[in-house]
Amino acid sequence: MNGKYHIHTYGCQMNVHESEKIAGLLSSRGFSSCDEVSEADVIVMNTCCVRETAETKVLGHLGRIKSQKKKGAVLIVCGCMTQQKAVAEMLFKRCPFVDIILGTFNQRSVIEYIDTFLATGKRIVDIWDGDRDTNEVSCAVRDDNINAWVNIMYGCNNFCTYCIVPYVRGRERSRPIDEIVAEVNGLLDKGYKQITLLGQNVNSYDCGGKNFIDLLKILDCGREYRLKFMTSHPKDFSVELAEEIANSKVLSHNLHLPVQAGSNSVLKAMNRHYTREQYLDKIKAVRDAVPDIGLSSDVMVGFPTETEEDFIETLDLVEKVKYNNLFMFIYSRRSGTPADKMPQIDYKTKQERISRLIKTQFEISKNIALSFVGCELTVLTSEQKNGVFYGKAQNELAVSFTGEAAVGQFTKVKITSAKNANLTGEVVR
Ligand code: SAH
Ligand code: SF4
Ligand code: F3S
Repeated sequence: MNGKYHIHTYGCQMNVHESEKIAGLLSSRGFSSCDEVSEADVIVMNTCCVRETAETKVLGHLGRIKSQKKKGAVLIVCGCMTQQKAVAEMLFKRCPFVDIILGTFNQRSVIEYIDTFLATGKRIVDIWDGDRDTNEVSCAVRDDNINAWVNIMYGCNNFCTYCIVPYVRGRERSRPIDEIVAEVNGLLDKGYKQITLLGQNVNSYDCGGKNFIDLLKILDCGREYRLKFMTSHPKDFSVELAEEIANSKVLSHNLHLPVQAGSNSVLKAMNRHYTREQYLDKIKAVRDAVPDIGLSSDVMVGFPTETEEDFIETLDLVEKVKYNNLFMFIYSRRSGTPADKMPQIDYKTKQERISRLIKTQFEISKNIALSFVGCELTVLTSEQKNGVFYGKAQNELAVSFTGEAAVGQFTKVKITSAKNANLTGEVVR
């Protein structure tokens, strides 16, 4: 088989990497990638449904693809959004120009589905339940040649009351440790400088008697690279993990520890299994162990029942922790989740709260950036444009700099100025 494929991905890093696997499968069958939908023989839309906006975007995009796709091209929609059976069936009925609809558990069988569709000409909608999975794919075609995503586990058992992920990604499954280590070593042999381990809750990695910290120790193998992981659940984040970040020669000094909210009653209603006090204690423990740690988080406003006082506690927590990076969301109702049935907050209040949160974080980011002026940071360079290099420091702050450097290398950079959250510097000779 030959021809061209075009993949469009929505959602998180997990989905980005799933698309790299789908690209690998299509490539191993002789397809090559193309940037334009209108040139593609196979078009894949890998979807997300974490918030309503993600779904709205997919639907809008499908409308455009309908007019762009060439005659005979096969259009496949897969991923989290279509793993919801009702959504898959709605798409099948309403979008006759979509040829194949798959979910998250069977999307890696995409080649077999294309073959069947081409042989029969019959449109396919096939959504599996979460108790079956297709095999791991070893032939991913990665988009980036500096950072590589590596899955260590799939699924989630936490059932935060707002979240759809456990319903569309199934229960936690950890990958065998040998398989992960072999993949990481293979990537380092190819020249990758950064590996990011992926899982909805990496702390619950558990396979063949080995836990997440065992895995991190094995991956601290004497080779020069930066190791990152996401996401860590605060309820499972331990002092041992903080110590491992301090002791490891490869782990990056940054931690994404999504707090979601700063009020205990909201955290309880979210089913997060920690209090603000416990969260703040963990932040203190990691700062004690790793003084230069860069922290980041996800925060949601407008969760059902969130009062003005609850929201002020969130603002207060954000001001106390001082995150380098904060991902801020307005709560979005997800059908089938417990929070969807709770009393909702009006849209205007949500809007007003997110604006206040964004303003608060903007000041924090600005001050953090200013505090780095005059410091030296180790930057992994990912891009060069018009003589300026761009990359991330070990604490995940974005840095642009000039001087003698190369993309894909670690460079010591002295920070000379800061504007908003952006740091500018020069290579240290
Ligand atoms: N497993 C990860 C990532 C989950 S999805 C974790 O637990 O952190 C990424 C983020 O999306 C979440 O941290 C949360 O802040 C946000 N999110 C999830 N469901 C949402 C919803 N219904 N509305 C708004 N934001 C949501
Ligand atoms: Fe969703 Fe919570 Fe699982 Fe994260 S831990 S994926 S927020 S249910
Ligand atoms: Fe990721 Fe969206 Fe699915 S955030 S796990 S692609 S619902």
